[in-house]
Amino acid sequence: KFYARAPGRVNLIGEHIDYCGYAVLPMAIEQDILIAVEPVNTQVVQLANTNPLYLDFSTSMKNIHINKTKPVWHNYFLCGLKGVQEHFGLNSLTGMNCLLDGTIPPSSGLSSSSALVCCAGLVTLTANGKTLSKVELAEICTKSERYIGTEGGGMDQSISFLAEEGTAKLIEFSPLRATDVRLPSGAAFVIANSCVKMNKAATSHYNIRVMECRLATKLLSKSKGLEWKKMLKLQDVQAKLGVSLKEMLTIVEEVFHLEPYSVEEICTCLGISPEELRTQILSQNTQDVTSFKLYQRAKHVYSEAGRVLEFKKICSEASASAIQLLGELMNQSHISCRDMYECSCPELDQLVDICLQSGAIGSRLTGAGWGGCTVSMVPSDKLSTFLTNVKEAYYKRNDQRLALEKNSLFATKPGGGALVFLEA
Ligand SMILES: *[C@@H]1O[C@H](CO)[C@@H](O)[C@H](O)[C@H]1NC(C)=O
Ligand SMILES: *[C@@H]1O[C@H](CO)[C@@H](O)[C@H](O)[C@H]1NC(C)=O
Repeated sequence: KFYARAPGRVNLIGEHIDYCGYAVLPMAIEQDILIAVEPVNTQVVQLANTNPLYLDFSTSMKNIHINKTKPVWHNYFLCGLKGVQEHFGLNSLTGMNCLLDGTIPPSSGLSSSSALVCCAGLVTLTANGKTLSKVELAEICTKSERYIGTEGGGMDQSISFLAEEGTAKLIEFSPLRATDVRLPSGAAFVIANSCVKMNKAATSHYNIRVMECRLATKLLSKSKGLEWKKMLKLQDVQAKLGVSLKEMLTIVEEVFHLEPYSVEEICTCLGISPEELRTQILSQNTQDVTSFKLYQRAKHVYSEAGRVLEFKKICSEASASAIQLLGELMNQSHISCRDMYECSCPELDQLVDICLQSGAIGSRLTGAGWGGCTVSMVPSDKLSTFLTNVKEAYYKRNDQRLALEKNSLFATKPGGGALVFLEA
């Protein structure tokens, strides 16, 4: 009876800062999740996937259970469904038979999982005859994706709904809003997959970083005499102190030492017990972490937040040196992700180097990291030699990568956001 689609995204700059409250700068890609839907008169949702790797699933909608221990594909669908159900307080939902198809490479940092959550939210909304704004849908899906256990910040869901063809977006939070960012003509953005898989929900890397930022927030707040229990995000500290990002970087230097912090030291600083730390601050899958790097993570977040604003400013000025300046920012972002946030991996670093040697003006990992893709800015007139060189240097020497190359190395333009196709 109807179809819905929700796109994946590539983040141009602003990595791991959405959950700290800072603006990010992604664009939607063409690749998406597509769902064909038949509403039915039962309270059952039946899911099938065109990819035989993803097994059929069906459940009664009366008692939706999302198992956090194993991020199976249908659980992402249930996150979107549950988000809409809870928002409207619906006791009974229209049943649905759904067939899913997807073109976003999974576990590659292009947000296939959030696209699935968003598409499921949109499908549930439509099947039940409800309406919501794109901003409301994005906020609902951000919250409901946390049922899978990842403490995400909202970039992925926001761009999936708010994207528009032909423009990247500055996405700001609290309140959520999106502003057009016109990318310079004369440059192409190229995605290259390292072919190292990374699933946010299957490992604790991602949530450990979220927790390190949360702890850095608490300790910075405490040291500045703020009400640390109420402070959740690094951006809250800057807002409360009313200082610039540059000044925050100085404060980070003054307050934190370079060595990792033990649980004991953190508890002493905050005057709480290890038990309170675990139950009141840490997430379920970070309970056993014993040391936290606070200086490095805070340094990355405040500097990366500054690079996002700088990137946007350069795009709006559209000067002759824009491409050069944006390239520098992308380079710096990668170095900060690699050295301060430690979310790169050897293959991503190698791929970034190859991209830079093949003619990119700037290159960086994109998405959560620890695998997945890089994004590179390449002068349009060098695009075809760039693609040939990267294929030669990264993909041709490895059979497993070569097999994936077609969907792994491509130029991309800002695509449109999620939508529903109703039958005429
Ligand atoms: C969740 O999934 C795990 C692994 O498949 C399984 O062992 C566990 O029993 C499940 N939990 C619930 C509550 O269904
Ligand atoms: C980005 O980094 C590479 C490698 O360090 C360098 O060759 C290139 O010039 C840098 N790009 C810009 C715009 O500075």
